[in-house]
Amino acid sequence: MRDIDMKSSQTVLITGILGQDGSYLAQHALNRGHRVVGGIRGELCSDRDWRLRHLGIREDIEFMSLDLIQPDSIDRVLRQARPDLIFNFAAQSSVGDSFKFPLETAEAGGMGALRVFEHARHATKSCRVFQASSSEIFGDITDSHHSEDSFFNPKTPYGATKLFAHIMAEAYRASYGTFVSTGILFNHESPLRGSNFVTKKITQNMVAVHRGEIESFSLGNLDAKRDWSHAVDFVEAIWAMLELEQPNNFVLASGRLHSVREFVNFTAEALGIRIEWTGEGTDERGINVATGRTIVTVNPEFYRPYDPAQPLADTRKAQKILGWSPRYDLPKLIQEMVEFDLQTSC
Ligand code: GDD
Repeated sequence: MRDIDMKSSQTVLITGILGQDGSYLAQHALNRGHRVVGGIRGELCSDRDWRLRHLGIREDIEFMSLDLIQPDSIDRVLRQARPDLIFNFAAQSSVGDSFKFPLETAEAGGMGALRVFEHARHATKSCRVFQASSSEIFGDITDSHHSEDSFFNPKTPYGATKLFAHIMAEAYRASYGTFVSTGILFNHESPLRGSNFVTKKITQNMVAVHRGEIESFSLGNLDAKRDWSHAVDFVEAIWAMLELEQPNNFVLASGRLHSVREFVNFTAEALGIRIEWTGEGTDERGINVATGRTIVTVNPEFYRPYDPAQPLADTRKAQKILGWSPRYDLPKLIQEMVEFDLQTSC
C-alpha cells in the first residue's frame, strides 16, 4: 500500500548515476516528470555515460561533481541541488574488488553513506533517502530463508561495509527520525551490467564464442549460487519505498537460487548452443556438444578468498507492503542480456 503519491515534481539526486541501478532509476524518475540531478565522480566521458545514452536520457540530467569520500563535496552538492529524494547507489560495488581495495570500499560505501544520512538529518527541507544495502550483509548462512530480521554476519570487506551503512540507516531513523529506507538487494542484472560481474562476463563471452571471435573463456567458482533478478524490477520497488509514510527495510530478490554453471547453460540455450560439463574442480570444462570444442574452463585466478553461499531470500514483506512482485524470471533476463550483447559487442 502506497501512502504518498509523488505526483508533483520532485528533485531527485542519484549518487552513482552512471552505474546500472542509477541509470534505470534516473529513467524511472524522468518518466514520472521529476527533475534528476546526477552525482558523478571524475570526468563525464563517453565510456562512462554509455548507459544513460543507451536509455536516451543523457541530456535530461543535470550533472554535479560529487565524491562521497570528500565531505565538502557532498555538502556543496546537497546545498545546491536541494533534493527531495536521494538515492544512494554510489559505492565500490564489486565484492571481488573489495578484497583488493578494502579501504576504498569502506570509505565510499560506509562513510559516504553516513555523510548522505547526515545531510538528510540537517536538511532544511524534508528529504527522503534510499540506501542500497546488499544481501552480502547476511554472510554465513544461519536461517533457511533470510529476511529483514535475520542475523547479519558478513565476512567480506564489501559486506561489512554495507552492514555499517545499513545499521547507520537504522540508527538515524531511531535517533533522529531521519527518513532512510534500505533495500537489502540480492543480485540484480540487466543488459547494462558491468562486465566485471559474472552474468555480463558470461553473456558477453558466450556471444563472442557464438560469433567465432574467441574459442573459450574462463570463470572461477562454478558452484557459487546466486539469486539473480532484473534491475528494472528492483527499481520499481525502490521507488515505491520512498512513497511510503514511514521508512523501512525491504529484501528484494526472486526467491530462487541458481549456480554460475546453470547461468552458463541458460545463456548457451539462448544462443542455440548445447553444452556438456566434464571434469571436476579446476579441471572442469564446458564443451560445445556440436563441435566437441571446450568453450568454458576454470581459472583459480577468479576464485575469491572467501565466497559465502548465498541464502534463500524471504521477500514477503516487499510483496505485502509494497505490493511488489518481479516481472522477469531468469531465462527472460538472460534472453534480454544476450540480445543486447548480440547487437552491441562486435
Ligand atoms: N565476478 C566474477 N567473475 N564472479 C565469478 C566468476 C568470475 O569470473 N566466476 C565465478 N564467479 C562467482 C563469484 O565467486 C560469486 O560467487 C558469483 O559468481 C557472483 O559474483 P558477482 O557477479 O561478482 O556478484 P556478487 O554476488 O559478488 O555481488 C553482486 O551482488 C551483490 C548482492 O548480493 C554485486 O552486485 C554487489 O554489489 C551486490 O551487493
